[in-house]
Amino acid sequence: MCPRLRDENGLELLWRPSNSPGKNLKIMSFAPWPCLNQPHGENKTVMKDLEGKTVLVTGAGSGIGRAVALAFAEKGSRVVISDIDEGGGQETASIVTQSGGESIFVKADVTHAGQVDRMTDAAIERFGSLDAAVNNAGVEGVSVNTVDLTEEVWDRVIAINLKGVWLCMRNEIGQMLRQGKGSIVNMASILGIVGYAKASAYTATKHGVIGLTRAAALEYAAQGIRINAICPGFIDTPMLERSLHLHDNPELQEQMAGLHPVNRLGKPEEVAAAALWLCSDASAFVTGHPMLVDGGYVAR
Ligand SMILES: NC(=O)c1ccc[n+]([C@@H]2O[C@H](COP(=O)([O-])OP(=O)(O)OC[C@H]3O[C@@H](n4cnc5c(N)ncnc54)[C@H](O)[C@@H]3O)[C@@H](O)[C@H]2O)c1
Repeated sequence: MCPRLRDENGLELLWRPSNSPGKNLKIMSFAPWPCLNQPHGENKTVMKDLEGKTVLVTGAGSGIGRAVALAFAEKGSRVVISDIDEGGGQETASIVTQSGGESIFVKADVTHAGQVDRMTDAAIERFGSLDAAVNNAGVEGVSVNTVDLTEEVWDRVIAINLKGVWLCMRNEIGQMLRQGKGSIVNMASILGIVGYAKASAYTATKHGVIGLTRAAALEYAAQGIRINAICPGFIDTPMLERSLHLHDNPELQEQMAGLHPVNRLGKPEEVAAAALWLCSDASAFVTGHPMLVDGGYVAR
């Protein structure tokens, strides 16, 4: 059994926010990832087909993307870590390599076609294939009513959350067609299924990501490429902290937790587990699916 950092429910933690009042998630500390260098670790036997596969993760310098990158590395995948934030991306890559995993960091802004090209080229140059991709990079936008949104904010949220996913998919599908196989997971949200006041741009992009996922899944299903989406509920990440400052406000934290029937926020690792499954052969008959990882939020 690996001596990992676990929470009260036995779930493994990648990071913990500081308990000090007034501090935010920027000062969180990272737990070690001790099992990466144990080839016969207990988790390596599940979804073993991911071992040796090349996986690209965008927005992997923080939150859900980092958890996804580390989860793949633990399965023995070679991880291409990409982010616009060089510091965060390099940090994720060094957690992987220090733990005995294989990764490269490629700085890229998903809204720029040229940078996305360089990102996918770097992955293929280094590892020779692209077996799976998790298009996760995203931003929250600004919390205002629809008529108060500026054109600048609208364009930025659409560019990163929707156009960025399409640009990445375009290159990933091209490479996967050459290989005759591949699996893509796009990060949507419960706000791709239901509405949320004061988040119309974000909500529109996440509905768009699900539509894009379904259409592309139909186009490439017969050629061996599966394309799915994940729809997380509210997940405890730097994005949520930036939007709501929950760690300074226990009452709001309780209120947000209560929106989920399981009565808590989600953890990045719980979203990562869904990404692993959707990229593994265990989900070979699943495509075009928007998978809820939401503690029952949408079931109400
Ligand atoms: N946290 C939640 O509650 C939640 C819920 C549902 C869906 N999501 C989605 O999950 C994804 C990850 O969110 P998170 O909570 O981990 O956020 P986060 O802010 O912790 O991480 C997002 C990462 O994306 C990167 N990024 C932003 N713009 C980029 C760009 N133009 N090019 C490349 N990288 C860029 C950031 O640098 C950051 O590292 C997002 O798509 C988000 O919409 C989050």
